[in-house]
Amino acid sequence: MGYSKILGTGGYLPARVLTNADLEKMVETSHDWIVERTGIHQRHLCAEHESAGTMGVAAAERAIAASGLDKSEIGMIIVATATPDKAFPSTAVLIQDKLGLHGCAAFDISAACGGFIYAMTIADQFIRTGHTKHVLIIGAEALSRICDWTDRTTCILFADGAGAFVLGPSDEPGLVTSHIHADGSYANLLYCDNAITPKPNSGKQNIVMAGNDVFKVAVNTLSRVAEETLGKAGMTKSQVDWLVPHQANIRIISAVARKLDMPMERVVVTVDKHGNTSSASVPLAFDAAVRDGRIQRGQAVLMEAFGGGFTWGSALVRY
Ligand code: UT7
Repeated sequence: MGYSKILGTGGYLPARVLTNADLEKMVETSHDWIVERTGIHQRHLCAEHESAGTMGVAAAERAIAASGLDKSEIGMIIVATATPDKAFPSTAVLIQDKLGLHGCAAFDISAACGGFIYAMTIADQFIRTGHTKHVLIIGAEALSRICDWTDRTTCILFADGAGAFVLGPSDEPGLVTSHIHADGSYANLLYCDNAITPKPNSGKQNIVMAGNDVFKVAVNTLSRVAEETLGKAGMTKSQVDWLVPHQANIRIISAVARKLDMPMERVVVTVDKHGNTSSASVPLAFDAAVRDGRIQRGQAVLMEAFGGGFTWGSALVRY
């Protein structure tokens, strides 16, 4: 069996920016509270005509261009999303069609904020066994459609966007090791009752979160899964060049970094500008750091994510 590796990455953020000052006019909050408790300064929200699918297409096109492949070489599309465009067909087939691809396997997975690590792990199995050569994985979310914009405890956090990787075969890692987990006994701490993304302005179907409880479990669980991943890879913390964490809250990011002895200079942070984009957050952050030259070919990058389910996971790649 061979390995899979990242051939190209891409990201898409919708044009509309919602600042903390904008939120001050919508709910009883303040820029200072949001920055101090979350690290978020602004977030992007999709326009009426946009969706997880349309944003996913934009991110995918950039990832395919970066991979140097012709799009016809994509053999499978996996979309991680908690805000699919429709109950069915999957957002993955809608993206497939918009990309002008036909015939390759395409499906969604539902693992909330952990979704992109799940997608990467699934893609890795297909590539390593030789079943599929090139897999496009996408994390795409229109979370603004399921936010309660009157609930200050959640609406300040969540945002929209999409990120994508093209993975392909390699003789050496690539994806060194990845670990995915879930514990459904926590399902009532972070959920949205209705599964399907509503049309813009079509009524209430909201994210509900016991933020403080989620916070505590997140820090411990993320540190544990990161240690598990490093242990399996036989690597020490000091051998990791970059930590690309799920972008939920700067306090969670720094607490996990501290537990891993990672100085913040080696942690990719986008939560200040992107907010929490759930399954899109890790690939968006990874892509940002590739494009601005921080993450270089050959470097060891540890990714981790945690969210509703709870689901969580971690992946170590040599980029
Ligand atoms: O991506 C999926 C995983 N999600 C996460 O990892 C999110 C995890 N949780 C968090 O990031 C944090 O728990 C929050 C940012 C959601 C909240 O921060 P916190 O430090 O846990 O605050 P808290 O919920 O304990 O609330 C502290 C106070 C409360 O007031 P009292 O009861 O002390 O008077 C809240 O009512 O802050 C109040 N508060 C706010 N004040 C101003 C809550 N939201 C706001 C707000 N503006 N937006």
